[in-house]
Amino acid sequence: MPTMNAAVVTSFDEPPHYLPFEAPHPSTPEEILVDVLAVGLHPRVRSGAAGAHYTSTGALPMIPGIDGVGRRRDGTRVYFVAGDDDLGTMAEAAVVDPRRAIELPRDVDAATVAATMNPAMSAWVALRRRVAMAPGRSVLVLGATGNAGTMAVRIARQLGAGRVVGAGRDPQRLQALIAQGADEVVALTEDAEATGRALAAAAADVDVVLDYLWGAPAQQAMMALLMGRADRSRALDWVQIGAVAGPTLELPSVALRSANLRLQGNGQGAVSTAAYLAELPSLVERISDGTLALTAAPRPLSDVETVWATTDPPGRRTVLVP
Ligand SMILES: NC(=O)c1ccc[n+]([C@@H]2O[C@H](COP(=O)([O-])OP(=O)(O)OC[C@H]3O[C@@H](n4cnc5c(N)ncnc54)[C@H](OP(=O)(O)O)[C@@H]3O)[C@@H](O)[C@H]2O)c1
Repeated sequence: MPTMNAAVVTSFDEPPHYLPFEAPHPSTPEEILVDVLAVGLHPRVRSGAAGAHYTSTGALPMIPGIDGVGRRRDGTRVYFVAGDDDLGTMAEAAVVDPRRAIELPRDVDAATVAATMNPAMSAWVALRRRVAMAPGRSVLVLGATGNAGTMAVRIARQLGAGRVVGAGRDPQRLQALIAQGADEVVALTEDAEATGRALAAAAADVDVVLDYLWGAPAQQAMMALLMGRADRSRALDWVQIGAVAGPTLELPSVALRSANLRLQGNGQGAVSTAAYLAELPSLVERISDGTLALTAAPRPLSDVETVWATTDPPGRRTVLVP
């Protein structure tokens, strides 16, 4: 049985270990085998490896990694998304379904693509596939201080938003968003009432909310915005993308009756694979020309166990290189 080296999760309570694992093989004539070049260590990868993502099957052992850059036998490189949650991308080789892959231009850096695609994709796809992002519309990014939130501020601006407001906890990262394209920032503090007033003052009349938080801060923000709107019958498109502040919130029925709140999500399942794929080439172009790139922090895959415990500083994403 041919084997390869991989990051292997043997218990959901432990980081992955670098171990030999049975090499994968294509199961349909369309699938191909690639040598993996770079894999981003995204929050979604961590939740999958902890058995905590909504797509988790609970099966062990599993290989984490939801996407990556690989080299085909002919030497060309692809960005691809894993089709299987149990056999992920953090390995020397992976099976790629061409319907989940796009070829990369020669000049784009593999680690930068692996670092940037997942955080950038969230707002890019939300604003192109979930809501009609006509030029001049206004956007609030809730949870704007993380990598995906910061990308969302930049992407909203690049896609023609007339006004962009960023809200988050960390005061320094928040201020830095002004240089990234935010017109105004709002601090999310322990004082829920003051935070609600500040959010309403800055963003009550926005057209779109890109929500990376959910949980209590999103609940408070939702009511503050709805109650503060000048015209409550004007649509407010709320796109749920991340849940770093909690998996659930309480939604009073009045939120839906007293205002034109349109609640939806953006993620695997909410958007088809074909729609995601159609958006990827234009994102790669922006990564390639530097307009949307995150700084990749490459580390050998063999270090996965120690790397797992580290936190990326703002603007950087760890990328594992087999
Ligand atoms: N659906 C999709 O397509 C998609 C794609 C990409 C990412 N996501 C999701 O989006 C989320 C963020 O991803 P990321 O790549 O940006 O992660 P990241 O770079 O690790 O950033 C996470 C940020 O969340 C902030 N945060 C954590 N708890 C918070 C709270 N209670 N209130 C306010 N801010 C809080 C942290 O802010 P501080 O600076 O204050 O610590 C940190 O900046 C994750 O849930 C991820 O799974 C979804």
